[in-house]
Amino acid sequence: MYKILKKEVLNPTVTKLVVEAPFVAKHAKAGQFIILRVNEDSERIPFTIEDANPETGAVSIIFQIVGGMTMLLNTKEEGDYIHDFVGPLGKPSEIDGNKKVAIIGGGVGCAIALPTAKAFHNAGADVTSITGFRNKDLVILEEEFKANSDAFYLMSDDGTAGEKGLVTNKLEELIQAGEKFDEVVAIGPLIMMKFVCLTTKKYDIPTVVSMNPIMVDGTGMCGCCRLSVGGQMKFACVDGPDFDGHQVDFDEAMSRNKTYADFEAHAREKACN
Ligand code: FES
Repeated sequence: MYKILKKEVLNPTVTKLVVEAPFVAKHAKAGQFIILRVNEDSERIPFTIEDANPETGAVSIIFQIVGGMTMLLNTKEEGDYIHDFVGPLGKPSEIDGNKKVAIIGGGVGCAIALPTAKAFHNAGADVTSITGFRNKDLVILEEEFKANSDAFYLMSDDGTAGEKGLVTNKLEELIQAGEKFDEVVAIGPLIMMKFVCLTTKKYDIPTVVSMNPIMVDGTGMCGCCRLSVGGQMKFACVDGPDFDGHQVDFDEAMSRNKTYADFEAHAREKACN
């Protein structure tokens, strides 16, 4: 059982939990994830590690309350316990301190993008972060991104926070203004990552995306998290979650993501009753 050390509401639909998990904390690297079960009979759900402290054994995850399991997880409070908390899983992100990188985070994907920005920043890379949200009420981790970036841009769809527009608008504006990025890392909704990749492809900028499909075992056994990358089948849990964004079949990934929509709606209903 894993104790919740701290619970923080980041916005009405996004919560941060700090969990006591010393083994995970000791071994976690940027880009890796854990799989947890809230109770013994709960579904397994993957979450990227937002932060890990090997000294205190504390591991942070940030999640959006979107379905039955995340609603259940959100009922847990400081001092409560989570049944399983397994990890770190997946391959760590490749961090190169000599690069000039643009880190793009969309919505709750910013929770995954932040540790990557932090890792590049700590390694000495030149980090430009661009985060995007629908409106000001959904903005998270602004100060944390500023602290780990050489340049930071906040975008919102309706202009109520930062500049009005999409993350791709800002990225293209910077490229056209002469910024020379060695690499772009995009983490967020599939549709956002797809359009970041279409943008960077025009300018031939290597682009890494973090894929977060539905997962079950997280060890490459069930095939649930499969994706097409460069025409080959890959498993996000063991081959990723980071992939060459220009090779990912986003349309297929979006269609697979919808497969369980009915089950999810049912689970949400059950959790509400
Ligand atoms: Fe089962 Fe990846 S979650 S193979």
